[in-house]
Amino acid sequence: MESNLKVLFVAAECTPYIKVGGLGDVAGELPLKLKELGVDVNIVIPANKDMEVPTQYKGDFPVNLGWRNETCVVREVINAPVPTYLVDNYHYFGRSGVYGHRDDPERFAFFCMAVYEMLQHFDYKPDVIHLNDWHTAPLAMLIRENEREHPHFHEIALLYTIHNLEYQGVSGRNIFAMFGVKDVVFKTTKVEYYGCFNAMKAGLNYADIITGVSKTFSHQMLSPEHGFGLEGVVQSRKSALRGVINGINTSLWNPETDALLVNTYNSEGLLKKRENKRQLKKDLGLDEKDVPLFASVTRLVPNKGLDLLEGAAEYIVKEGGQFILLGSGEKYYENVFMRLMDRYPGSISVNLEFNNAKAHRIYSGSDFFLMPSRYEPCGISQLIAMRYGTIPIVHKTGGLADTVLDAGKNTGEGTGFTFATYSMDAFQRALKKAFGIYKDESALSGLIKRAMSRESSWEEPAREYLSLYEEARKENQKRKTKGRKTLFEEKGKGESHI
Ligand code: GLC
Repeated sequence: MESNLKVLFVAAECTPYIKVGGLGDVAGELPLKLKELGVDVNIVIPANKDMEVPTQYKGDFPVNLGWRNETCVVREVINAPVPTYLVDNYHYFGRSGVYGHRDDPERFAFFCMAVYEMLQHFDYKPDVIHLNDWHTAPLAMLIRENEREHPHFHEIALLYTIHNLEYQGVSGRNIFAMFGVKDVVFKTTKVEYYGCFNAMKAGLNYADIITGVSKTFSHQMLSPEHGFGLEGVVQSRKSALRGVINGINTSLWNPETDALLVNTYNSEGLLKKRENKRQLKKDLGLDEKDVPLFASVTRLVPNKGLDLLEGAAEYIVKEGGQFILLGSGEKYYENVFMRLMDRYPGSISVNLEFNNAKAHRIYSGSDFFLMPSRYEPCGISQLIAMRYGTIPIVHKTGGLADTVLDAGKNTGEGTGFTFATYSMDAFQRALKKAFGIYKDESALSGLIKRAMSRESSWEEPAREYLSLYEEARKENQKRKTKGRKTLFEEKGKGESHI
């Protein structure tokens, strides 16, 4: 038992109950590992119409949204591995889709208000609240701005994790008004942003410790190129900023035991992986010749580098390889890739769906895994690919830079291929290296073995979070005794826009 901290983990989505992206995986997996380390952890997420999970009523209370009251019903998931609470309200969460509604800022403002009320309703006093992304960030403002009325809030340390800085929850001042905090909080050094309310800023300005989901990403957030307009705010909190890479669920993603594979294997039995490749190609209607097989499992959104991926698919086919895509998303990209499949039948397979079994077989049966993301705070697929011995080819950014070591320089240490400049030329050079190594069986199997032996479990990241929770508590103590100012306040820049 390494810790007896009480931690409340707050997120918009969480596996296995509901998942849109990597955030859902993190919320489902990190708390589980923390629990193994002795942490008394609870999860709270919004309810959703699409959740099919047995729950038990825990209580209800009114939530004052400034101009009206809405009822919050709290239900607990029955037999959850980590105690998990769903915040429900028919108007806000009785619909499908976690994100993408016009009233998202209002829905998540309600969520934060409801969690805030819930702490009091159940007299729950966590040592640390771990917030994730903009949807949960205003809770940090609520806790800190209401310390006077609720003195025990002083004791709660706040850790805020950023999984994506691009989505900031920018909305009108009317949303800010829902929180019922003093009007003076609506200023640039706190949550105001060009006349709007910026939820992400609440997390950045009020948390004791801020983490990005990889070291490179945390560093990149400080720059105009990757700061999405908030680089100034991130810089002002630089001393509180850390980077912790995500893990993956290594029991679920394990080629030795994966029941969804035709053949299970480890790095000593790579012939079985080859057999999985043969079967996969057959299932997806690809020609049966022995050529390098490239794959991508991705949401079809621009930041995943789909413009480069389209060019890469054509290049691969022209060089004699094959390409598989699995994923769904924006219609524009769905059409782009469908057209490619029509143009190159037998060489390109496009699967516009979310299909877990297919994903496992693609991770296992492919030779190379493509991730040319424009930006990638952490990335999870490259970790899974490596574990299955499928060599990642990635844009050297964010978590991809931290987890994939370039094999291009033949140092005998690489686990994949990386390219530094976001361009088709640079990507093609990396693809060329992949075609090259495919012909050299012993070099390829060395590379596969190194990729498979990368340690990607949650063990280490969970321990890092544990020590950051302690650090957040210390920072919170310091704040109480000395007061903490943002860099702008210290420099007397006051209200200037960043
Ligand atoms: C977001 C990021 C992704 C990261 C995930 C989990 O989806 O875009 O890079 O892996 O969050 O932290």
